[in-house]
Amino acid sequence: MVSVAILGAAGGIGQPLSLLLKLNTNITKLHLYDIVNVPGVAADISHVATNSEVKSFLSDKQLAEAVTDIDLAIIPAGVPRKPGMTRDDLFKINAGIVKGLVEAIAENSPKAIIAVISNPVNSTVPIAAEVLKAKGVYDPKRLFGVTTLDVVRASRFVRDIRPEVDAATLRVPVIGGHSGTTIVPLLSLASAKLELSSKEIEELTHRIQFGGDEVVAAKNGAGSATLSMAYAGARFADSVIRAMKGETVVEPTFIPLAADPEGAKQIRELGAGQLDYFAVPVELGPQGVKAIVQLDGADKVTDFERKAVSVAAEALSTNINTGVNF
Ligand code: APR
Repeated sequence: MVSVAILGAAGGIGQPLSLLLKLNTNITKLHLYDIVNVPGVAADISHVATNSEVKSFLSDKQLAEAVTDIDLAIIPAGVPRKPGMTRDDLFKINAGIVKGLVEAIAENSPKAIIAVISNPVNSTVPIAAEVLKAKGVYDPKRLFGVTTLDVVRASRFVRDIRPEVDAATLRVPVIGGHSGTTIVPLLSLASAKLELSSKEIEELTHRIQFGGDEVVAAKNGAGSATLSMAYAGARFADSVIRAMKGETVVEPTFIPLAADPEGAKQIRELGAGQLDYFAVPVELGPQGVKAIVQLDGADKVTDFERKAVSVAAEALSTNINTGVNF
């Protein structure tokens, strides 16, 4: 029995994410919540022939009910990024939305695992943590910022220049944060030997860091990544749920490093320093974070990558403080 709530289910990310999770046979109950249009989305998706029950919850009045008795809450609610807008411009609007939703989860399902998609993730995750602390239900092992799209882009973009690579199985650890130069792909630790030149590494790194902008520009004012983000969100949710059911699953994700202080030592030495949050590969378990996965061959990390980590850490520190002080 796994109950999942999607908060912001009628949006550009929320709708395809809801559909993909309707196809996930490990889910028994799917609660779709939004402040607009969600009854139609839920009715539509509920006809898909899998066994889960889909329920619609519309507006503040039904928020508490939407997040009661749930195991996992996924939050793609917010406003999308428009051309010229950085993820951080979104902060003020989305921060308030995330705060309200996490308050409701804390009150009604204090043990739920929370996966935040709403940007800027570097700040919205610390906001969620502060809300949970204030409510007395904070467990750093159960709070995640979804960075799966950065990992997905890394694998796919490598394949664009190395067609012999399988994009679906290639793994590139992506660490740091979830915006621009806070995103650090460690191409030197990729699961396949890539033999990339320094120019290719620089170009790929930049493309992975700013991949979201390609979508924003191509959509020409109509928003930011939705379909690939929904795919990434569904993949992350599937990993969390499989781990809940006892499988060992590794996913890179943005977490409070307090979730595994011992395991965080390696990433702190690599450049995370004293930061309280960082994206790292995480072994998931039934209770959320089981352990931070140690990077295999961390001594292979290049000077270019180390420099990128230090640039990321500086920006992240500001982003995190913005969230903590919201
Ligand atoms: N509670 C629930 N849902 C809300 C709330 C709220 N307080 N405020 C807004 N929403 C809903 C909107 O009604 C909409 O259906 O969130 C949905 C957002 O959908 P879109 O505007 O289509 O935005 P989308 O492209 O899905 O992006 C959402 O994810 O990646 C991030 O940067 C992106 O922060 C943005 C978020």
